[in-house]
Amino acid sequence: MTTDSPNSTANSTDQRPVLVVDFGAQYAQLIARRVREASVYSEIVPHTITAEEVAARNPVGIVLSGGPSSVYEEGAPSLDEGILQLGVPTLGICYGFQVMARQLGGEVAHTGQREYGATAVTARTDDNRLLGGQPEHQTVWMSHGDSVAVAPEGFEVLASTASTPVAAFANDEKQFYGVQWHPEVKHSEYGQDVLENFLHRAAGIPADWNAGNVIAEQVARIREQVGSARVISALSGGVDSAVSTALVQQAVGDQLTAVFVDHGLLRKGEREQVQQDYVQATGVRLVTVDAADTFLAALEGVSDPEQKRKIIGREFIRAFEQAERDLIAEAAAEGEPIRFLVQGTLYPDVVESGGGTGTANIKSHHNVGGLPEDLQFELVEPLRTLFKDEVRQIGRELGLPEAIVGRQPFPGPGLGIRIVGEVTRDRLDLLREADAIAREELSAAGLDGEIWQCPVVLLADVRSVGVQGDGRTYGHPIVLRPVSSEDAMTADWTRLPYDVLAKISNRITNEVREVNRVVLDVTSKPPGTIEWE
Ligand code: XMP
Repeated sequence: MTTDSPNSTANSTDQRPVLVVDFGAQYAQLIARRVREASVYSEIVPHTITAEEVAARNPVGIVLSGGPSSVYEEGAPSLDEGILQLGVPTLGICYGFQVMARQLGGEVAHTGQREYGATAVTARTDDNRLLGGQPEHQTVWMSHGDSVAVAPEGFEVLASTASTPVAAFANDEKQFYGVQWHPEVKHSEYGQDVLENFLHRAAGIPADWNAGNVIAEQVARIREQVGSARVISALSGGVDSAVSTALVQQAVGDQLTAVFVDHGLLRKGEREQVQQDYVQATGVRLVTVDAADTFLAALEGVSDPEQKRKIIGREFIRAFEQAERDLIAEAAAEGEPIRFLVQGTLYPDVVESGGGTGTANIKSHHNVGGLPEDLQFELVEPLRTLFKDEVRQIGRELGLPEAIVGRQPFPGPGLGIRIVGEVTRDRLDLLREADAIAREELSAAGLDGEIWQCPVVLLADVRSVGVQGDGRTYGHPIVLRPVSSEDAMTADWTRLPYDVLAKISNRITNEVREVNRVVLDVTSKPPGTIEWE
């Protein structure tokens, strides 16, 4: 439903950005985040952007990202030559560094010597703006075949490696800089310093942006967009819909109605969190749709994960449409039509849907916000320019309950896709208890910041023999799936302390009936996905 290009300006911002030019690797988003971590607003643009389009964005700086190609390959992504004539301070990274070197008259050599992974680099330790103040010998993360052999005229060489004579360069007069390595990845020891030096010291960009600045700006934009019309929002209990709804509530107050569909697949306490804590914190007008029976009836006898997802998506739309019809009728009676729908679309969704690098459909995702395509509403998307951690920060500034703002990502189809096998009320009750125990213990151990999320999965179709008290049991296993991740695209299993695992396991097997075994999922993503279904 939201397939605008990353250039879309709906609900964007007035801030002058640093533009991160995406040369097609997975690093552009990471660079954009690191720039924001340096308190500078950033946006990602495709490498096909023209110099006029760049000029129209009035950027304070440009970062050229890495990319998978060789500048010599046919069809290698190129950059409009006019961009480097605009007088905007620019940092080239990896492939972007080579593109810059070539366009400005340097030489890029096909050395056939690939540098990959942690690499020792020797840096100039004078007071140069890019690397000055850093150690002479440092470890950086490399991934390249070609190398810059000769820097363009007017450039100083700032670093080298055993096989790369020009690993970093600078031209202070033009405010052009480049590094062969990836400063945006944590394996580059002084990576963030390189980025910050470029932004603040070399380009003179102040560190004055933070996600909180967005609130006042978005509130004004929403008011302008919505006028006196009515707005509806689908609240899932998740962070994105909670924060986007709260922003709209702050902007237009009573013109907004939030709809919360309880599909019976929620976690323990979630409904209460929304109905009590969230409503109290925001003052939002909330309509709850009680749809658990309908969802369970529709899911009866279904074990196939994709089929479950489709059914849950379909039922969600039905439930929402019913609520919508009621609200439309009510609004019409009062003379102000509903014209807008709030969506908690985040920046990665915007980049990924418009980035053109299409990924395979591994699982059909139904966000609770995955609403019908033919809805006749205009979208209000106040989070379109933000990353998840920034959305959390805004939620906190808006005074939302920590239980909601700090919440782990939770899939729209809820516990329905964490039961391997048929979904029944009884099984949902078991899983809800086990999940609550795991969450409680992880929080108590102070591990919430370390894990991205920890799905708890019930293997309802599996039974194993156990012994409890004096008797033999024949119960179900529960799987713990703690993962660490920056964006859920890739993930690693979190090395949780044994004593925390022991406590969770003890409590689950003691307190949750019919569960006699707790197992730990030690698979990274890829090859495993985060969710089991
Ligand atoms: P996977 O399982 O694909 O999950 O590795 C990646 C991230 O997406 C979440 N997820 C979903 N979120 N609707 C959602 O809103 C869905 O249908 C859905 N399926 C998976 C998952 O929790 C993880 O954060």
